[in-house]
Amino acid sequence: MDNFYKRLLDNASDLIWVIDMEGKITYINSNIADWGYDKKEAIGKPLLDVLTIKGMGKRSSVPVEFGVSRTFEMQVADKCGDLRRVVVSSSPLQNDDAKIIGEMGILYDVTEAHAMEEKLKHEERLASLGRLGTGIAHEIRNPLSSIKMNLAILVNRLHPTGEDKEHFTIAQDEVINLERIVTEFIDYAKPSPVKLRRQSLKTVIEKTLAVVKTVCAEKEVTITRDFPPVIPMALMDSAKIHQAILNILLNAIQASPDNGVVGIKIRSLSSPTETVAITVADSGRGIDQDDMKFVFDPFFTTKDDGTGMGLSIVQSIMANHNGSVAIESELGKETKVTLTLPTG
Ligand SMILES: Nc1ncnc2c1ncn2[C@@H]1O[C@H](COP(=O)(O)OP(=O)(O)OP(=O)(O)O)[C@@H](O)[C@H]1O
Ligand SMILES: [Mg+2]
Repeated sequence: MDNFYKRLLDNASDLIWVIDMEGKITYINSNIADWGYDKKEAIGKPLLDVLTIKGMGKRSSVPVEFGVSRTFEMQVADKCGDLRRVVVSSSPLQNDDAKIIGEMGILYDVTEAHAMEEKLKHEERLASLGRLGTGIAHEIRNPLSSIKMNLAILVNRLHPTGEDKEHFTIAQDEVINLERIVTEFIDYAKPSPVKLRRQSLKTVIEKTLAVVKTVCAEKEVTITRDFPPVIPMALMDSAKIHQAILNILLNAIQASPDNGVVGIKIRSLSSPTETVAITVADSGRGIDQDDMKFVFDPFFTTKDDGTGMGLSIVQSIMANHNGSVAIESELGKETKVTLTLPTG
């Protein structure tokens, strides 16, 4: 092959190949290295042995017969078995007598674009569920206040005792529980605007630690601190950051066994930008890998008495602060949640 064309093909950003009528590779460009193969190793092998097809997408323009141009999306495994989503276009290759002697193909990796598309779809679904949910939540709020008020009137008028009193107490507690769920949901779906001011992160953290003291005492959980000598000021809405830290501390304490230890660590980072990172780590139950993608979804909970709003609220608070929240976890071993806030 002419050197110029060879270089052109080799430097293309997509994977390009030619196969003979038996499906064996006669040419493949250098991008095959990205798939874990050496060029020499791939040549002569059946294409389908090198790129193992794991699943066909919908966008295929059949018929799948030799000598017909076609484009389709599918999942292909690389040498290590890692799956990638790709779009393949193939067309027949003819010799000078217009006889089909093989096929050439171009493959481009759409894994990232596909992941982004899925994420957007998921967010859209959540947004429409959110609108529906907020509507329902508002509708529930008024009758709920009415039930609460009437229960209070009845308790005052009847002065129930014994079992009757117990029934009233249960009903009142459940109403309070429902109110909390509804308020948390409305607050998540339509959060009050953040009021950002330069404030002391240390003060906020100390306040939050004081709040969780009683919860810790119940389970005899100890909190250890790893703070730098100077904790930077951050641009924040301290009530919201208090809420975010509280939510992750509560999760850590709830996940810990009795007598467990929860660590809170603060670090200043200067790259890529000036930020402060707050990490809460526990050695508790951990998070199942399959559950990981849902933990930030509103109402996702694995707890009997959880509402599943905690982390979704943390995520929305951190996004409003141009910060972030990240979770690392190993099932049955540990969970680390890191919040970052810009300080620069
Ligand atoms: N530190 C942790 N250890 C183990 N699992 C966790 C931890 N933090 C969160 N999770 C998992 O993520 C789920 C969602 O957490 P989130 O805080 O959003 O809701 P919740 O704690 O279940 O309920 P709520 O916070 O509304 O009372 C939890 O039910 C739990 O399965
Ligand atoms: Mg929680």
